[in-house]
Amino acid sequence: MEKKSRILIVGGTGKLGFEIAKASLRSSHPTFALIRDESFTDLHKSHKLQTLSDSGATLLKGSLEDETRLIEAIKQVDVVICAVSSKQVLLQKLLISAIKQAGCVKKFIPSEFGVDPCKTRISGLDHNFYARKAEIRCLVEAEGIPYTYICCNFFMSYLLPSIVQPGLKSPPRDKVKIFGDKNAKGVFMKESDVASFTISAVDDPRTLNKVLHLRPRGNVYSMNELVEIWESKIGKKLEKIYVPEEELLKKIKETPYPDNMDMVFIYSAFVKGDHTYFDIESSGGVDGTKLYPHLKYTTINLY
Ligand SMILES: NC(=O)c1ccc[n+]([C@@H]2O[C@H](COP(=O)([O-])OP(=O)(O)OC[C@H]3O[C@@H](n4cnc5c(N)ncnc54)[C@H](OP(=O)(O)O)[C@@H]3O)[C@@H](O)[C@H]2O)c1
Repeated sequence: MEKKSRILIVGGTGKLGFEIAKASLRSSHPTFALIRDESFTDLHKSHKLQTLSDSGATLLKGSLEDETRLIEAIKQVDVVICAVSSKQVLLQKLLISAIKQAGCVKKFIPSEFGVDPCKTRISGLDHNFYARKAEIRCLVEAEGIPYTYICCNFFMSYLLPSIVQPGLKSPPRDKVKIFGDKNAKGVFMKESDVASFTISAVDDPRTLNKVLHLRPRGNVYSMNELVEIWESKIGKKLEKIYVPEEELLKKIKETPYPDNMDMVFIYSAFVKGDHTYFDIESSGGVDGTKLYPHLKYTTINLY
């Protein structure tokens, strides 16, 4: 049987990184997690670390600011997956330099896990959110590091619990706002499913130097369709408040950063259609659902 790659996960105590580490262990990859010193003494994080360690992960002390420990950690593995938060994306510059110096990495999966940063059409609105991720792509490619980028679009825990109503934590039961042209489709993926697709891509040559897009059936819906699903679940029609593009743009501009970012992401997905306007294959990407039809995932209806 082919040997499974040894995987180093940076961000293993984070929301997505923890799921990726668990998926890696479930798939029997020798799994290493680079953990910052302070996480070992944080109660919530140490619980996660115990779970990973009990499942067989090797915990290595280090951080994205400590080049020596980074190189030591990278030298023990074949694949590096980074899942630091969007605010920390540029810290990956040192990681890229360390990967280059270590010289043993056959695939790097940088911290993206969202909308394809090179395909969004909202320039100027996102305070460089996507530009930072795109900058990391340029650096990875300029250094000749083998890569896979994972574009899963929205996590299900983000915006879906409120049926895409900024400021709400649960779905509305009386009135619902519908943004944009009502028909642009957005994609929502459960974090644990994003992790399973990511780990499936690790040793798959079809994903080498490719963008892996996740758009599975049952997870791609317009705002109209999301509201219909919710109405059918509660057996009630909601009053619809239609918010046209100009009104949403005005609200985005009036609201200070970062409070306006939910609306920016809604604008990108449900007005501009950034999750789905392009064809995956003809844009040079690969479709996760076609590559891994055996993977079970949570649909929006089930969620
Ligand atoms: N598509 C979506 O809807 C969506 C939603 C959220 C996030 N995302 C994306 O998912 C990715 C992961 O985000 P997340 O929300 O899961 O992140 P998160 O929960 O904030 O976790 C960040 C992780 O990075 C670690 N970290 C931070 N600074 C570090 C450093 N200097 N050195 C080493 N490790 C460091 C943290 O470790 P400590 O425990 O030590 O702090 C933590 O494990 C990001 O690319 C983000 O943009 C996408």
